Amino acid sequence: MASWADDAVIYQVYVRSFADSDGDGTGDLEGVRSRLDYLVDLGVDAIWVTPFFPSPMVDGGYDVTDYRDVDPQLGTLAGVGALLRDAHARGLRVIVDVVPNHTSDQHPWFRQALSAPPGSAARDRYVFRAGGTEPPNNWLSVFGGPAWTRLPDGDWYLHLFAPEQPDLNWENPEVRAEFVDILRFWLDLGVDGIRVDVAHGLVKPPGLPDAPYPGERGNRPYFDQEGVHAIYREWRRVLDAYQPPRIMVAEARLRDIERTARYVRPGELDQAFNFEFLWAPWSASRIRAVVERSLAAMAAVGRLPTWVIGNHDEVRVASRLAAGAPAATAAGLAPTAAGCAPHAAGACAMATEWSTGDDLAAGAKAAATGLRRARAMALLSLALPGSAYIYQGDELGLPQVTDLPDAARQDPVWRRSGGRAPGRDGCRVPMPWAGQEPPYGFGPPGSAPPWLPQPPLWGHLSVAAQHGDPGSVLSLYRAALRLRRETKALHGPQLTWLNAPEQVLAFTREAGFACVLNTGSTAVRLEQLDLPGPLTLASSPVEQEGVLPPDTAAWFVGGTAAQ
Ligand code: NOJ
Repeated sequence: MASWADDAVIYQVYVRSFADSDGDGTGDLEGVRSRLDYLVDLGVDAIWVTPFFPSPMVDGGYDVTDYRDVDPQLGTLAGVGALLRDAHARGLRVIVDVVPNHTSDQHPWFRQALSAPPGSAARDRYVFRAGGTEPPNNWLSVFGGPAWTRLPDGDWYLHLFAPEQPDLNWENPEVRAEFVDILRFWLDLGVDGIRVDVAHGLVKPPGLPDAPYPGERGNRPYFDQEGVHAIYREWRRVLDAYQPPRIMVAEARLRDIERTARYVRPGELDQAFNFEFLWAPWSASRIRAVVERSLAAMAAVGRLPTWVIGNHDEVRVASRLAAGAPAATAAGLAPTAAGCAPHAAGACAMATEWSTGDDLAAGAKAAATGLRRARAMALLSLALPGSAYIYQGDELGLPQVTDLPDAARQDPVWRRSGGRAPGRDGCRVPMPWAGQEPPYGFGPPGSAPPWLPQPPLWGHLSVAAQHGDPGSVLSLYRAALRLRRETKALHGPQLTWLNAPEQVLAFTREAGFACVLNTGSTAVRLEQLDLPGPLTLASSPVEQEGVLPPDTAAWFVGGTAAQ
């Protein structure tokens, strides 16, 4: 294996919503530190901590004003040191988020640019263009609306996301040097890895040509330019100077895993999030096709894939896979453009969400099916060769919160779409830890209400409620992670498909392990499959030996599979 991350299970901590140590209603780094034992007990290898840098929080911290400090609401630099020490003492590695495509509009550089004249060196750190009353080109922001904003002096600046997130000019050597320095700052502090936000966006095409809207297919012209790779080759050299080895993971929302694989070629990053897998619809043959393509694309560059089923930008897996879930409506993030696998219709856009709460009218049955499938997806993703990511709360089976009050919504997607697109807040609702009513132990007693309201009926989903329940989602995750650790056969690169009925996906790993997934609505008999051992773990109760119920995955472990 090339790096520790190749087969690691990495838990995504969305800091604002994980645990609130000081009772102000917002999760913080001290909250993360205080819950490390929960993560050790869960059985993950590493955590990725989303941005905690000083920020006006227009985009949940992805709008940074100072890349070398901590937002006072979220903690202190000393607190990062303490978190690293305590995590490392428990054998957990820590990945931090770096946001190089854009800064906050409150960043000192952008303030200087605004008070400097057109054509100045201060403006050259960003993408400014002279223009008339029309923007320099037709580019649309990923969050909806034009990607350009005009200043009173006539200059336009580019923002692929919100206007409060001006894009940096990566042709400018000062920008490049600054980020090398920022990387070193965090690496020197002892972080084990870096997640690169919008890794495919830094370099814009020469001449900033118009995009071929409307009816576009494929990636937008401002993404995945060849020039980005030189940046990552430089960053690789920076990382390689550190011991023990550090890793980088790319957030590049591209429609093809083959393009994504180019970010993890030798001399570039270590991992890239597998969005095609995340967007795969609930179909054994479609999932198998994505798995095959992922393995092939990554093998061609000497890597193993990542397996991602959720993050803070996507509809929660337990709701995304619900029976009869309507085609997810774009939340203003332009699914085909922002990167959507052609076969992933319905669940592909960043921040897609059902258009109204009424779409959930299918009610409890749909929710139960969604949860059942989410449990099966968890077992599948933890059985595949490579590294798996777990988004906080998915280990509790949290559903998407679709009925947040309008006044509570904070995602810029919601504001920029004039309320037509609900945005991503529904997957960011603070974690329930204990108790029967909000804030469910998210903060200490007497805390301010959480920054997003939690639903009234989440008590049964809390960590405390699930802890001792062998049938809970949390218990399933714990059991799977324990078994994964103990099972040598799960740590090699090998996967062999077994012949299986159409609604079934089945494979073995190295000697002694098999995983079978039934995405159909009827049970399947397993006798024609050559399984290496007894059923050891299943995502739903298996009542009849040799029969796998609908919407269920199971692991079969033989004597030769153990370490
Ligand atoms: C991807 C992040 O995951 C998302 O939350 C953010 O809004 C965009 N990048 C812009 O930084």
